[in-house]
Order: sequence, then C-alpha cells, then structure tokens
Amino acid sequence: MNTTPNTTPSTFPPPEAVAKSAWVDAEGYARMYEQSVKDPEAFWGEHGKRIDWMRPYTKIKDVSFTGDVHIRWFFDGTLNVSANCIDRHLADKADQTAIIWEGDNPAESKHITYRELHEQVCRLANVLKAKGVKKGDRVTIYLPMIPEAAYAMLACARIGAMHSIVFGGFSPDSLRDRLVDCDSHLLITADEGLRGGRKVPLKKNADEALKESPNVKTQIVVRRTGGEVAWTEGRDFWYDEEIAKVSADCPPEEMSAEDPLFILYTSGSTGKPKGVLHTTGGYLVYASMTHQYVFDYKPGEVYWCTADVGWVTGHSYIVYGPLANGATTLMFEGIPNYPSVSRFWEVIDKHNVSIFYTAPTAIRALMREGEAPVKKTSRKSLRILGSVGEPINPEAWLWYHKVVGDERCPIVDTFWQTETGGILISPLPGATTAKPGSATLPFFGVQPVVVDNDGKLLEGETEGNLCMADSWPGQMRTVFGDHARFVQTYFSTFEGKYFTGDGCRRDADGYYWITGRVDDVINVSGHRMGTAEIESALVAHPKVAEAAVVGYPHDLKGQGIYAYVTLNAGEHPSDELRKELVTWVRKEIGPIATPDLIQWAPGLPKTRSGKIMRRILRKIAANEHEALGDTSTLADPNVVTELVDNRMNHG
Ligand code: PRX
Repeated sequence: MNTTPNTTPSTFPPPEAVAKSAWVDAEGYARMYEQSVKDPEAFWGEHGKRIDWMRPYTKIKDVSFTGDVHIRWFFDGTLNVSANCIDRHLADKADQTAIIWEGDNPAESKHITYRELHEQVCRLANVLKAKGVKKGDRVTIYLPMIPEAAYAMLACARIGAMHSIVFGGFSPDSLRDRLVDCDSHLLITADEGLRGGRKVPLKKNADEALKESPNVKTQIVVRRTGGEVAWTEGRDFWYDEEIAKVSADCPPEEMSAEDPLFILYTSGSTGKPKGVLHTTGGYLVYASMTHQYVFDYKPGEVYWCTADVGWVTGHSYIVYGPLANGATTLMFEGIPNYPSVSRFWEVIDKHNVSIFYTAPTAIRALMREGEAPVKKTSRKSLRILGSVGEPINPEAWLWYHKVVGDERCPIVDTFWQTETGGILISPLPGATTAKPGSATLPFFGVQPVVVDNDGKLLEGETEGNLCMADSWPGQMRTVFGDHARFVQTYFSTFEGKYFTGDGCRRDADGYYWITGRVDDVINVSGHRMGTAEIESALVAHPKVAEAAVVGYPHDLKGQGIYAYVTLNAGEHPSDELRKELVTWVRKEIGPIATPDLIQWAPGLPKTRSGKIMRRILRKIAANEHEALGDTSTLADPNVVTELVDNRMNHG
C-alpha cells in the first residue's frame, strides 16, 4: 500500500466536452463491444463497408487458430488501398491537405493536397511499372521521413506490389538481409536523410547493401539533401527525373481482400527478423476504424503521429488509417530535441494539431527538461493525446496529462504490435475512464484472454500471459515465405490462441496493464529488438566466444541493452575492446541496437543441458542480486557469484 499522502486522482473519466461530441461514449462502447464479440460476422459485415470495395464481399470471416492456421476476412471482396486512401476523397476533398510535411529544419514545411497526392502516387506507380514491377512483386523502401515515403507505399498499393520498408536507422547488413529475404528487385532510397541537423548516408548504405543483393536491378533515388553520392549507371535513377517522364494517369489495380499489401520485418525471440505479412481488405478496415475511434478523429482536424514510417505505427497511423479516413496527417522529418526541446510543442502550434500520438520514451526525455519548454507554447489546438510502443509509467502519464495536455486532453495508451496491424487495447477518449499506466479495455472485436504458463485460462483479477482468443481483421496472415514459423511463433505456445509475447495484469475492473515482454524480445525506446540478433552479432566478432543479451530497466529508454560477453581464450578485456564491440554491433544491425552495458563474463550460467539461464542474467543486470531464485540446477553455480561480483564492481 502507498502510505504517502497522494492527492492525484488515480482515475480520469473522459472530460465532458470530449464525451459529448465523441464518436462513442461509455454506453456506446459497451453496446458496440458486446455486439462485436457476440456476432463478429454481423459486426464486421457492417463495419467493413466503411471503405470502398470494387466488388463487395459476401464472405466475412474464415479463421482457424489451430492446425495449419488460416485467417481470412472479407475474402471474396476486391478493392484497392490507394484508391481508398486517395481517389475516393477527390470528389469532396481534392483541395484539402492530405499530408503536412514538417522538415527537420523548422523553416521547411509543405502541404500536399489530396489532388497532389493523387498525381504523385500515380506518377510513381507508373515509374515502378516502367521498371518492370508487377502485381505481387516486392519493393523495398529505405527512405527518411519525407512525403516520397508515403507516395512510395501508396504507389506500390496502387499496382498491387508489396512494399517492405526498412527503417533508415538500420545498417547496410540489415537492409541486405531484408532485401534478400523477400527477393526485392527494386529499392527506393534517398541521397541522404536529415535528422537533428545531421546527415544520414542512405544511398551509401544502400549501395553497400546492394553489393550483396544481386537481384536488385533498379535503385530509385530521391534527391533530399543534394549531397554527393556514388552512381551506378543502368541501375540508379533519380526519382525526380523518372516521374517527369511518365503519365499522371494510373488506374488502381483490382486486388482481392486477401492479396498481400506489405511486409514489415520485426524481431522475435529467435533467429533473424521475420517478414510480418499484412493483406489488403481487413487491414485497411481495421486501420481506418481504429484511427477514427481511438483518436476520435473528426473531419478537418490535423492529426500527428511522431513515429517513423519504418515501423508499423507509421504504416497504420501516419499513412493508411488517416488517409483512408480523409484526414490531414502530419509527417515529421526531425527529432524531439532539435533545434530545441520545445520542437514538438512548436510544431503543434504551427500546424494547429488536434491529436498528438507519440512514445513514452519521448515523453520521458522531454519531461527531464522541465515544464518551461512546454509551457512557453500554447498547445490550445490539442484535444487528444496518445501513447504507444511500451508501457507508459504513471509518472510520465501524469506529466503528459498535466503539462502537455493542460489536464484537458484524454490520453489513449494504445497497446498493439507489428503483428496486430492496428490497436488492440486502448481507451476510447469519449468513453473510457483512464487509469495512468493501463491500456484499459479491448477495441471492438478484440478478445483478450490471460493464461498461466500451462495455458490454463485465468478468470477475473489476475496476472499472466496475454493472448487473443479470436481474430480481428487487421491481424497478420503469415510470415513471408515461412508459414510454419508463423504457426510456431504465435499459435503453438498456447494451443488455439494468438500469443502476444507480452505479460499482463487484469484488474478488478477488467482493465489490462501490459507488464512487458515475457519472451526474449526487448523494447528499447519503443524499438523492438531480439536478444538473439544482438547475440549473434556479438558472436560474429572474431574475439568473442559467447554472448548473452538481456534487457534491464533504463530511466529514459524503458529498457537498455545489457550484454554479457565471454572472450576467446587468450583475449583480454579492455575498454578499447568494449568500444570496438559497441561499434561492431552498430555496424551489424544499426545504431538502435547499441549495447548500453557490456559486462565481461568468464562464464555464463547454464543448465546442465547447456541452456543459458537468462532469468538469472536479467536479475543480475537489474541489480536484483538478492532475488536470483533457484540456482541449484546450474551446471556451475560459481559462475553466478563471479558475475554478481563483477556487476557490483561495475557500479
Ligand atoms: O511489448 C509490447 C510493446 O511493444 C510490443 C510491440 O512492438 P512493435 O511490434 O514494435 O510495435 C510497436 C508499436 C505498435 C508489444 O508486444 N507495446 C506496444 N504498445 C504498448 C506496449 N506495451 C505496453 N503498452 C503499450 N501501449
């Protein structure tokens, strides 16, 4: 029990002004939720109509979470995603801004109308066709946060090619792995990116990656900074020159609801990142519906999600959801603390942003700077605040609420994953009483269940593993090229259920509190990393014999990367080697995988069968030396004493 006097309320009902005008209020949520789980066919049959179909569906749902696992929604319907995100708004919104682009440099911004978006996307789609891209082909996109990233996604969707976006912070090796895995023949990149005033050598990285991606025959390069780049004649083409050569007319391809829309690589417990595959109809219905209801989006409002399009949040909630809803979506090239730590709030004032969606790690970093940089801005346009990517600690929630939102704006803490395509658990701003730190209640059609480690269903107030009992339209359909891995990863731990990999608590009000990953995935500043990936990068270094990586609590990043490294016989630990290993991992994976701490480990705690006991390594990293638990099953319990001693000496 908390014994200190506390005057802060622990629950936050929707402000009356929001509840009154919201798409759904508390009663509406209860009614629609019940309908959605009692009769999913009827519910989704109705709500699937929110988008335009070329041939309307008559079949709604065909799902099995057992055996071979298959998931199909609206599966006899046909549509085109880019037509839904652009063409259908041309009748009444052609001159409305679709995308506000705010550059890294505050002096640079532009508005792109739906009419302009249409022209740009059609032209690029024609370029892709001219370069031989066909329906079903994969196009890889390695771009900074510039409008061309959205054009590229929509151009692929227009001609039925799948896009695979690789975040600009990934290394050439990571890019190469992803190009090769999905067998892309075309890459779209830029000369350089620009973030916080610093240049990112995208074309240089891409050239590096292409050395080992023989099937990529064409590279289209956006001129962003005008910086000097190497050039391979016959393979490299300037984006601006190519789009000038083609027509601005490109009819959208008729796609079946279950045709793939995109692949997005994400990290798991084991092996290399896997290509999460999303399809056309269900994904768009779900992305647009969650965008409307979770953010209570109203026509004419400016909506801003600060994610990068390299992550799923950028796919669903910068591009597809908002544009399908005819929204004005803001795309930001920069970072929260450039040129100053007021940047977010200044952009909100500059563009009259009503809805602002960001990550807890950014909130925590800005919170450190105090209230002044926020309070000097007005933020009076703000109506709704959102959070995504990791659990938000109540302290950060309260600061977001009080300081950023002036206690006026509901916060939606949205829990979801690359695999889920859209938000699964979140308050609705006009309906749900929020509790700081809780993602609260499921979205329509979502059926969370909590199970213990043996898969037993836990009822009522409880804690355990978070699964979904049934499908929702935005769910991933397979791992690209490896359906067995899809079944194994998500449906084999708990038979007949989709396992999120997250732990959670359900309180007496039925609210969900996500407690973080229970598998070997860590969440660093809202970026998802597989510990196995970082370990294999470390082990690839010639001086390293063995490595084990765990997450540990980190004030700003949520989790930091803690690496235990055993060197080859004859090698000696040194600060230089530590630096060398850090640089090595950055080169192998990218800066987002930079280890925060490397501890030299003469040995690693293993069971007699040779399995590394990560539970123990996590405790040591977290400085919880008293709570190591049972170490008697270890092959050599002395290893642990040594690691603890080392850790303590580290401070
Ligand atoms: O652990 C959960 C955490 O992020 C994981 C998914 O990461 P990714 O696929 O990269 O997608 C991030 C953006 C959707 C989840 O398994 N996570 C995401 N949102 C929340 C969260 N944890 C707690 N609260 C959230 N709101």
